[in-house]
Amino acid sequence: MVHSAQDIVVFCKKKGFIYPSSEIYGGVAGLYDYGHLGTRLKHNFENIWRNYFLGLDDNYFELETSNIMHEKVFKASGHLDNFIDPLAKCSKCDFVERADHLIEKNLAKRAEGLSPEELTQLITKNKLKCPQCGASFKPVTILNMMFPLNMGATTVNKAYLRPETAQSPYVNFKHQFELLRKVLPLGLALVGRAYRNEISPRNLTLRQREFTQAELQIFFNPAEISKHKHFNLVKDYKLKTLLVKDRETNKIVDRTAQELVDYGLPQFYVFHLVKIQQFYFEVLKIPTEKFRFYELDDKEKAFYNKYHFDLEINLSELGFTEMGGLHYRTDHDLKGHQEISKEKMEIFDEASGSRFIPHVLELSFGVDRNVYALLDLGYEDNQERGNILLHLQPQLSPYFCAVFPLVKNKPELLAKAEEVYDSLKKNCSCYFDTGGSVGRRYARADEMGVNYCITVDFESLEDNAVTIRDRDTTKQKRIKITDLKSKLAELSQ
Ligand code: GAP
Repeated sequence: MVHSAQDIVVFCKKKGFIYPSSEIYGGVAGLYDYGHLGTRLKHNFENIWRNYFLGLDDNYFELETSNIMHEKVFKASGHLDNFIDPLAKCSKCDFVERADHLIEKNLAKRAEGLSPEELTQLITKNKLKCPQCGASFKPVTILNMMFPLNMGATTVNKAYLRPETAQSPYVNFKHQFELLRKVLPLGLALVGRAYRNEISPRNLTLRQREFTQAELQIFFNPAEISKHKHFNLVKDYKLKTLLVKDRETNKIVDRTAQELVDYGLPQFYVFHLVKIQQFYFEVLKIPTEKFRFYELDDKEKAFYNKYHFDLEINLSELGFTEMGGLHYRTDHDLKGHQEISKEKMEIFDEASGSRFIPHVLELSFGVDRNVYALLDLGYEDNQERGNILLHLQPQLSPYFCAVFPLVKNKPELLAKAEEVYDSLKKNCSCYFDTGGSVGRRYARADEMGVNYCITVDFESLEDNAVTIRDRDTTKQKRIKITDLKSKLAELSQ
């Protein structure tokens, strides 16, 4: 049965994955909290992301930096002037909407990247009216999406909440390059918060005002963009692509990495498209038909990008939705910081014997969007069982297993179950549950995405064995308690 986006909202709140922040005061649009299960799922995603992307090269490292940054950072990066969204305001009431979203919703066509004048024209020509009061819209204006802050009690030092994590590695680059091995490519990754004053936050955590990004900035020699030392290993790998020229048919086309190079993309860029797709298919194990790389045209690209593909996942009801992107940012940011800060960003590259400002390839991911996608892809309203089933793979699920005594009012059974639980909990993510019937506990575990339920029953007292129930098949197996750890280790792979 196909579920709606609202089903996910209701489920996430009911089970303690995600719900509105400050809810006892009515909530604040675009701000969400993760509950006890959501937090575990989110951290699991972040750790899988770290292991995979930092593992791509020994010269990749993670930073932890301040969320508040100097105003000049954003003068240099171009965000003060260019990080803007078009605003459609009702001429009568207080209704506001992002103008390109208003058009996309009403006319079912992409309008990202159009100028305020073009958007105004489209709204007027198609006689779009305010959904709240039916009045017409004012001409489209623009809004800078950053949150400014005044810091300190006496002097007014202007600062901003960062709108992307990326700027932190850029301002840290020179210092880190000197501290590390002074070789390129150098990767600086950050998993952290970003803040945007979104005009119309919506769809749970898909468009928030405070969210988490996981981004890897790879600093490299621009003279080497057309090659990658491991490209030969991936040249025949097929990527799911929708290029600008495919938009008419709207069909995803399988293209080899080599075909994309022949199309005009550099090897260094295409190699990382491959690594991203492999992350989704081989690590997150998402169904291949749910994924595509979407090429952005010149109007849609972020202002700092030369090449820009979004990676998108097909969500129930909402369709293909951006989860992240591969951005070739050239020397846009480092050059900007050199100009404004007067710190030299140029480095001496021993390998080529030359001096230059490194270029940046950015692998950018929205953590909350990816977590939403995992919940959406994993969600199944199982009519037969009469409960929701959350299909999450072992490394992602909030709990890998649960231990139940068959009944809780038999002390010797309870003691045995506790003994089993104690022997597992140090090495494996698991919890202990005695509440309600075993059937109810299975249903609860299904909804939490628990992969295996271990039940200690009366026979266990005799044969020192337990049953393991598989979430997806409900099949049960009898296992000796002494073999339990190795069995679970095998199942968690
Ligand atoms: N550093 C590049 C950058 O920030 P972006 O496309 O603006 O690029 C990267 O953002 C990712 O962050 C997006 O692909 C998306 O997954 C996530 N993201 C962006 N805005 C968001 C929002 N308002 N709420 C939740 N996630 C968001």
